[in-house]
Amino acid sequence: MEEEGVQGDGVVVAVEGAAVVGAEAVGGAAVGGENSRGPPKWIRDLPVLGVGLGFRKSLKQEIFAHKQEIDFLELILDQYIGPSFGQIMELRRLSKAFPLIPHGLGLSLGSVDFDDPGRLRDFASVVKMVRPPWWSEHIAMTRAGPLDIGHLAPVPFTEEMVEIVCRNIAAVKKILPVPLILENISYTHHFSRNELTEAEFISAILERSDCGLLLDVMNLYANSQNHRYDPIQFLDEIPLERVVQIHAIGGRWASGVLVDSHSASTPVEVWELLRYVARRAQVKAILIEWDEQIPPFEVISGELSIARNILSETPERFSERRAYAFR
Ligand SMILES: [Fe+2]
Repeated sequence: MEEEGVQGDGVVVAVEGAAVVGAEAVGGAAVGGENSRGPPKWIRDLPVLGVGLGFRKSLKQEIFAHKQEIDFLELILDQYIGPSFGQIMELRRLSKAFPLIPHGLGLSLGSVDFDDPGRLRDFASVVKMVRPPWWSEHIAMTRAGPLDIGHLAPVPFTEEMVEIVCRNIAAVKKILPVPLILENISYTHHFSRNELTEAEFISAILERSDCGLLLDVMNLYANSQNHRYDPIQFLDEIPLERVVQIHAIGGRWASGVLVDSHSASTPVEVWELLRYVARRAQVKAILIEWDEQIPPFEVISGELSIARNILSETPERFSERRAYAFR
């Protein structure tokens, strides 16, 4: 009933209308650069959202005060499971002001025993409430049997695990037929029984499950530093045409490990990786993902501005299509 209340006031209609305008504007745009494969039609038809920010309660006032700098918001989906009346009202207010993208943390697509229809239905109910052009989850495990691991844990890069993740995604898509994009995580643990490289593993999952990619360039940079590989080679080995959204932010070094702590300005190396991707992929959205040690908003404004500039360097892919007529 609460869900119907949110959907019934015209908010969703506004979002859907915007999606159609965006899709028309995107349609037919070519993917250039070195990637000649081109995205699947369903990705090509997704709207361009622009530059966004992760919604955090502590930023709520500033977000509305700086509305013109923010094209969309990303919501932590798990925080709205079984939403209270206050949360439904919050979703309604946010929906009226911004396109919203739900971002899941705890679905645990890498679990072997992915068989909790209640949890999946909870996720689906929040996504359906927002009715976004796409939603996202991680290629990770957060639960092992009844145990909640409490963080995003990596899974072995094996053919068997590709099959498991794809099987889980197929189950998700049956209940939630909204385009799903998958995020690469940062990890410190490396499985000795890996059969595939990380790039091969992610590529296989994306292709076989027909999902888009939420490329976290900070996670990529952290992994490349911690596991000593070339991030450009990684980017050249994955299907960049499946990139839909990008996460950017900075981390911190701790005991010789680069931690993806979402606590600092995006480092220049990460911006360069983002620029490399933006020149080769039909990026629909870039999100600044600040969680810890949140600075004065002018610092965040600067990050949003850099992200916007990077996208504007590829005019045929972004500037002319920045017609997401939402506001
Ligand atoms: Fe991320």
